[in-house]
Amino acid sequence: MLRSHNCGELREEHVGQEVTLSGWVQKIRDKGGLMWVDLRDRYGITQLTFEEGRTNTAAIEVARKLGREFVVQVKGKVVERYAKNDKIPTGSIEIDVQELTILNAAKTPPFVIEDETDGGEELRMKYRYLDLRRGTVRNKLVLRSQMAIAVRNYLADQQFVEVETPVLIKSTPEGARDFVVPSRINQGEFYALPQSPQTFKQLLMVSGFDRYFQIVKCFRDEDLRADRQPEFTQIDCEMSFVDRDDILDTFEGMTRHLFSSIKGVELGEFPRMSYADAMSKYGSDKPDVRFGMEFVELNDLAQNKGFNVFDLAELVVGICAEGCAEYTRKQLDELTDYVKRPQIGAKGLVYVKCNADGSFKSSVDKFYSQEDLAAWAEKAGAKAGDLLLVLSGNTAATRKQMNELRLFMGSQLGLRNPNEFKPLWVVDFPLLEWDEETKRFHAMHHPFTSPLKSDIEKLDTDPGSVRANAYDLVINGVEIGGGSIRIHDKATQQLMFKHLGFTDDEAKAQFGFLMDAFEYGAPPHGGIAFGFDRLCAMFGGSETIRDYIAFPKNTSGRDVMIDSPSVVAEEQLVELGLRLR
Ligand code: AMO
Repeated sequence: MLRSHNCGELREEHVGQEVTLSGWVQKIRDKGGLMWVDLRDRYGITQLTFEEGRTNTAAIEVARKLGREFVVQVKGKVVERYAKNDKIPTGSIEIDVQELTILNAAKTPPFVIEDETDGGEELRMKYRYLDLRRGTVRNKLVLRSQMAIAVRNYLADQQFVEVETPVLIKSTPEGARDFVVPSRINQGEFYALPQSPQTFKQLLMVSGFDRYFQIVKCFRDEDLRADRQPEFTQIDCEMSFVDRDDILDTFEGMTRHLFSSIKGVELGEFPRMSYADAMSKYGSDKPDVRFGMEFVELNDLAQNKGFNVFDLAELVVGICAEGCAEYTRKQLDELTDYVKRPQIGAKGLVYVKCNADGSFKSSVDKFYSQEDLAAWAEKAGAKAGDLLLVLSGNTAATRKQMNELRLFMGSQLGLRNPNEFKPLWVVDFPLLEWDEETKRFHAMHHPFTSPLKSDIEKLDTDPGSVRANAYDLVINGVEIGGGSIRIHDKATQQLMFKHLGFTDDEAKAQFGFLMDAFEYGAPPHGGIAFGFDRLCAMFGGSETIRDYIAFPKNTSGRDVMIDSPSVVAEEQLVELGLRLR
């Protein structure tokens, strides 16, 4: 062993012991006759001392050659420190060095390897292996590891079997584009990387595995955001002989276990809300329910009073910002500018101040009497001192805009406490979603999701209104997971493909294997997948999943460290049949 102890474990009780430590040089302080070196490894930092006249000259000579991030081995005696440092756990001791060996020299790193660094994002990504030396960064991956282990233990206890599914497959539609891999042996043909192991986990149910899970990489060629990476990890699960509530209960249990064992947080209720309610109350299928500020529809009160904008709108909707009646002209203008930004796209913002004296002041006083505004305030539950913010227009767009405004106000008013966690199951999603571009329906979740029994007959007459037996787990406004009860008979699956615009032949060519399997005794089944990176980021208190992935891609989908994607040799293209010789 190149060490007897690590750099984080020596204490006063070790004083007098001869030890060997190995690690990286964090800091060197040279005061002439006296020299201190901070030695760092994953476990902590230990101070080494060299003193002329006491430490042997060979060791001092080596020490003078040291630079930051050199890898060294040191032998010495643990002594009590004269000036103790209560900021680090080893702060009451130091090593009186007897022998120092340089195991490997190091170039000066391009940024400081400390919790607070001077390196910009791009530079740190290029030298990710150095960034990962920083405690704050490494701790995120340690958290991830603890969470993966806790998930495995919990699910194994519940009789789940971990099964690995293949990575070279054919397209599994989850709504994104596939990454494809050309086949050399079957020229002109391609594998697709899984967007999820969806069809395989269903086949495992047909095989009788009953309860499956996998912590698995998924690949989706889609635009990147803070909460999206082209390759990301799911906790993917499937169960047989269950209905929706069995699944929600099982995974509520897992979520509670993770929060309590890893974060020491006991979660409250896991309420259930229909998609329709989520959209009308919050304008989002992933509402942040840490705070109220629910939407109030004002069509009946605000229309037909001569204000054209509202009269022509499909939806007039307001929120009540408590205690904001005192907002200045400037603050209100800022809010208006906020909703008018192109990313949000509202045309304007109407406000009603509920003054302390019981009167109202609005931006539409020309059209509405004090009684009119009082009626709005009453419907919105606004009290004196509150501010109503109102948007109008086409229903879908206005809800989206109001959702943004609600979240913005929630943040401004400090209602989105990062240390509070409010889960919510959103259920009964629409089965199909109309796509204007392709002029056809798409599966909102994926094509294997079962319609609600009560809605099946509407598939032919009003497909857009059919609800799916699908659910999402949302925590603090983040979609942490999603799943559904599946179709498990061939006829319904065929019907579903028909509604998605597949011909029988297309459906057979792409998913014949699954429909065939359904004819050999497929049990009723359903499941869910958690976005593991998102869950880790939430546990770590961050909105960006990138920090919780050891070697992530940047916002253009590049790994700037290994410089990928990259061109391949002409010869390779020829071999793959992608280019003529
Ligand atoms: P879904 O597509 O909802 O369901 O994905 C499940 C969860 O995975 C996370 N997620 C992502 N995380 C990071 N980067 C991405 N690009 C990304 N895309 C999705 C989200 C999401 O809730 N097969 C189904 C599950 C099922 O039906 O059982 C599926 O993949 O947190």
